[in-house]
Amino acid sequence: MSDSRTPADRPAVVLGVGGGIAAYKACELLRRLTESGNRVRVIPTEAALQFVGAATFEALSGQPVRTGVFTDVPEVPHVRLGQEAELVVVAPATADLMARLAHGRADDLLTATLLTARCPVLLAPAMHTEMWEHPATVHNVALLRARGVVVLEPASGRLTGADTGAGRMPEAAEIAAVAALLLERGDALPRDLTGRHVVVSAGGTREPLDPVRFLGNRSSGKQGYALARLAVQRGARVTLVAGNTAGLVAPAAVQVVDVVTAEQMRAAMHASSADADVVVMAAAVADFRPTTVATSKIKKGADEPDTIALTRNADILRELVQAREEGRVPREQVIVGFAAETGDAHGDVLHHARAKLGRKGCDLLVVNAVGDGKAFEVDSNDGWLLASDGTERVLEPGSKALLASRVLDVVADLLKPA
Ligand code: CTP
Repeated sequence: MSDSRTPADRPAVVLGVGGGIAAYKACELLRRLTESGNRVRVIPTEAALQFVGAATFEALSGQPVRTGVFTDVPEVPHVRLGQEAELVVVAPATADLMARLAHGRADDLLTATLLTARCPVLLAPAMHTEMWEHPATVHNVALLRARGVVVLEPASGRLTGADTGAGRMPEAAEIAAVAALLLERGDALPRDLTGRHVVVSAGGTREPLDPVRFLGNRSSGKQGYALARLAVQRGARVTLVAGNTAGLVAPAAVQVVDVVTAEQMRAAMHASSADADVVVMAAAVADFRPTTVATSKIKKGADEPDTIALTRNADILRELVQAREEGRVPREQVIVGFAAETGDAHGDVLHHARAKLGRKGCDLLVVNAVGDGKAFEVDSNDGWLLASDGTERVLEPGSKALLASRVLDVVADLLKPA
């Protein structure tokens, strides 16, 4: 990717690499960070170089790689790198490295840099489950979070060897997405959803016509995934009900329920929202499904139907609001809908969106203007956030993560006790 900015204009990112087997994934993260136009300086610990050689980091970053404070002394790198950084990302952040950081140690170039940095700091932990759950680590993570350091929730899954459990480093794509968000908005990840259950639907449903064909839509699921990812990193327990979202990286520490059709999404949303504090319908649900589904492929010829009969699907969002009105779920539950609108002869985007907010009865409606390549399948988004109390906020153009963080700000405010 070409970048027309001069090197001095590009965001200065420090990528710290701790000594764990996940250090190999730091190479992929480094590539993503540089391809997004950042100037990246890699600072591994001595232990990290047992896993990945300095030459790899130097070649990928185009910058020298040092671990100690006694090289290039006249340039005072142990102070300068931290002071100049606009973001410090540490991946993997080992238990030992977090312990040193929590206690303000500065015994190598990376910890000295972390002590001088005044920019956002993002840690992507990676360690065995026992180490992650040890009271010492739990205490250090809490201490770091209380100081404003963003410590990502690790993923569950395969660790080194045959072990599985919480402690796996989130995927490079996910760390890069959060890093980009922190460069856009340094205060995007407060722990203000701690103890909350957030249910998010994402992607598009597919309504089968026969074993080969379906009616579908262009939703990629990116906006819903961004919401789920940020909600978990703001402290929530998150259930993600995912329609077709081919190729998206499942967010770390999120419970994913895969569905295909609108009926399956409906059942999954009702089941998982029973104890939810927040429900977000970001999915594009098909309004209709073929009335009959052929058991074998529909062939051309005499048996080919001239038309396809359709049956209307339930309005899941409306049903979720009804469940709350009838007291079947907590009355304080915050319900968020999405609306992709175009203007027409009857009114502009906002006119249609206001009417939809009233019709659906949800608390918040995220409105995107669509058409001209906007909103679908792309990485950026903008629009408005309409609230049932009549408040209307502009959501300025930015990444889908930025939009998600703005929506969660308002959700967190609504959840605060009056
Ligand atoms: N939605 C839903 N169930 C449906 C259709 C939509 O829960 N069967 C939800 C979407 O997830 C979204 C909101 O309702 O949060 C608005 O979706 P949209 O397709 O814009 O609304 P419709 O009700 O289909 O309105 P219209 O097609 O008339 O614009």
